[in-house]
Amino acid sequence: MAYSEKLLDHYENPRNVGSFGKDDEGLGTGMVGAPACGDVMKLQIKVGKDGIIEDAKFKTYGCGSAIASSSLVTEWVKGKTVDQALQIKNTQIAEELALPPVKIHCSILAEDAIKAAVADYKSKHGENVETSACTG
Ligand code: FES
Ligand code: FES
Repeated sequence: MAYSEKLLDHYENPRNVGSFGKDDEGLGTGMVGAPACGDVMKLQIKVGKDGIIEDAKFKTYGCGSAIASSSLVTEWVKGKTVDQALQIKNTQIAEELALPPVKIHCSILAEDAIKAAVADYKSKHGENVETSACTG
């Protein structure tokens, strides 16, 4: 299977790996798993007082496509509001990384992780949102 250069770049040099300190302010943490393969992704956002995502970090226990997808979205969410971050679609991730069809669920995992992180942030900061439904 031929993987795209962007995918390999994010896989070999993942951006924003890690997690924030427990006491950092404005955090939202999403932890999601993919039923299809058992891979797990943890994604955190750090939101400033102005509602803009300042920083994001991830840890992914999964395949190369999941690592590349989460690396990519940690870059994409920075500078966005949490509601803008919710607009990120797995299809955009899959397109950017040129994911092959069997790897589409890896990009869904990244979209789910953002939604879960935003939901967590909102639940801790006084706004209720529906958590995303896993579509399998
Ligand atoms: Fe696979 Fe939700 S975790 S689609
Ligand atoms: Fe499951 Fe990639 S193979 S997340």
